[in-house]
Amino acid sequence: MRTSVAIIGAGPAGLLLARLLQQRGIESVVLESRSRDHVEHRQRAGILEQGTVDVLRACGAGERMDREGLVHDGIELRFGGAAHRIDLAALTGGRRVVVYAQTEVVRDLVALRLDSGAPLLFDAEVLAVHDAETERPRVRYRHGGAEHELTADHVVGADGFHGAARRSIPADRIRTYERSYPFAWLGVLADVPPSTDELVYACHDRGFALHSMRGPQVSRLYLQVPPDADLADWPDERIWDELDVRFAADGWRLRRGPITDRSITPMRSFVAEPMRHGRLLLAGDAAHIVPPTGAKGLNLAVADVVLLDRALAAAVQHGDPRPLESYSDTALRRVWRAEHFSYSMTTLLHADPAADEFGRRLQRAQLDQLVDSAAAATSLAENYAGLPL
Ligand code: FAD
Ligand code: DHB
Repeated sequence: MRTSVAIIGAGPAGLLLARLLQQRGIESVVLESRSRDHVEHRQRAGILEQGTVDVLRACGAGERMDREGLVHDGIELRFGGAAHRIDLAALTGGRRVVVYAQTEVVRDLVALRLDSGAPLLFDAEVLAVHDAETERPRVRYRHGGAEHELTADHVVGADGFHGAARRSIPADRIRTYERSYPFAWLGVLADVPPSTDELVYACHDRGFALHSMRGPQVSRLYLQVPPDADLADWPDERIWDELDVRFAADGWRLRRGPITDRSITPMRSFVAEPMRHGRLLLAGDAAHIVPPTGAKGLNLAVADVVLLDRALAAAVQHGDPRPLESYSDTALRRVWRAEHFSYSMTTLLHADPAADEFGRRLQRAQLDQLVDSAAAATSLAENYAGLPL
């Protein structure tokens, strides 16, 4: 098989890129290792920045998001038993976020792709990318019990952290930067109306907790747990009791309901440089991971794709390779900004098991500054609501 752009991975990055290229009349084939059902039900992120919302709308994938997404003007920081609101819209000249689950974004983009008849293969696992430094890179994949080859002008690795694209780059051509954290997130989905209108980020001596949502009837809640925590040790009752303790504030009550999904996600920061090897380009989690505090992962993947779409169009339609050549440098500026923000939010809000009393006082001073200083709150709001694309 032959195409112009081979896209590995049908996560938000791969699917959105396929859509944007299709709108320009550029052919692509999307190869996804898992089933459609799997990718449409994998619980992950839930917050879309203004820029992400604008891109989805502009490419015709915003109809259900505009109907069902919840527009949020602010978030709450809760610490010392008190609530403190960060007014995102007021502090950023009107930038807002939309609560709309990654599963729904993926569902909308899959439906658009399949309806258009353009190729998107599920259960097609990419094994390796070959000849990336030539003009005819090849993607080797397994589908329907046999091995196949896809030849393309360009290959985009949008296959997440564990994918095959980054692994196909020779070790001496790529450098990685990494940080792990002494905690993980236990995330649950519960069939109960949210107990709050806006997201609550709670910092408590026993650990971080986050109250998010998936619509008027479904709550999404997260608890900081040790990195080696086992779901078997967390029966529903224990989860709710712990959430109650960490969210405790005067006059506030957490509604409980049946838990329908639960998982533990380790937290790490990771960047691979450069994000290009010849004609193989990396996008999204394939190139970088942020800890989830601050909800940057999905939005960063979208920012990569917006750059790639323009750069591929310049190369394929106008014979201008320069935007592709500078893709990595341009993308990495935003990547490192988001890495710093996610790291800061994570260390600001989590209880570090190794922290001493001095460290805890510094953390509290930093939280207090967000309440006392408009400059500090504005910086958080600008990063949270997202930089323009
Ligand atoms: P992905 O969504 O990972 O998509 C990659 C796709 O490639 C997948 O469909 C995968 O099946 C496919 N693939 C992998 N290997 C191959 C192969 N060899 N061949 C073909 N296809 C392949 N972010 C937040 O902001 N908030 C959160 O709460 C949050 N929770 C998360 C929970 C988990 C468990 C994970 C893993 C991530 C979470 N993130 C969260 C991060 C966010 O979901 C990601 O940043 C986002 O999914 C990135 O999109 P992507 O398209 O780059 O990668
Ligand atoms: C969600 C995830 C995040 O990481 C975050 O900071 C806010 C919300 C969510 O899944 O809803």
